[in-house]
Amino acid sequence: MADYDESRLTVVDHPLVQHKLSILRDKDTGTKQFRELVTELAIFEGYEAMRDFPLEDVEVETPLEKTTCKRIAGKKVAIIPILRAGLGMVDGILTLVPSARVGHVGMYRDPETHVPHQYYCKFPSDVENRTCLVVDPMLATGGSLTAAIQFLRDADVKDIRCLTIVSCPEGVKTVLDYDPEVRLYTCSVDRCLNENAYILPGLGDAGDRIYGTK
Ligand code: PRP
Ligand code: URA
Repeated sequence: MADYDESRLTVVDHPLVQHKLSILRDKDTGTKQFRELVTELAIFEGYEAMRDFPLEDVEVETPLEKTTCKRIAGKKVAIIPILRAGLGMVDGILTLVPSARVGHVGMYRDPETHVPHQYYCKFPSDVENRTCLVVDPMLATGGSLTAAIQFLRDADVKDIRCLTIVSCPEGVKTVLDYDPEVRLYTCSVDRCLNENAYILPGLGDAGDRIYGTK
């Protein structure tokens, strides 16, 4: 049994997600296709992460008659990518919520210590009134994601949902233990981290594969 609060973890394991993830993991998948798949997987994850958004009744006149329909009731969204790799998920979420604002957290992991170093942070001015979807394809040690969560809590954000594509048990536990309210969505919880804090089996370095920098 997992030793973290499983009720706040959603593994988005739809057959289409698993299919696309298998292509994403393949070392022979090229940059263009990798980028497209990250966008597509972000759409599936965003769909799940917004499943509980409240609805309100609206009157609509179809070509035939008036009817009562449902629309999302005033939820405002901010997408918060963790640079660089998180940027790859932004367009997918914007496809679902075109009016969302986008805030950025710039961080890179020190290759030796694996500790994240922040180099940029800019949020929308009303971020505290928005549901924040933090996006980053990889959740490894959890250092980057917990730092991003803390920046948002410091900015008084109440509703934080984290969307990753590949996670590992260590990172999931770190994030869910760090913040008692945050919710986590991922396409896979992989086996473990290796000695360089890369996820196994994982998909390698997501930033490098999205941007073709290696
Ligand atoms: C990767 C990834 C996450 C982080 C995960 O980014 O995109 O942000 O590592 O590792 P952690 O859970 O151990 O913190 P990286 O630091 O390589 O930067 P990049 O996106 O610029 O490539
Ligand atoms: N960052 C990545 O891009 N991949 C990993 O496996 C771990 C951290």
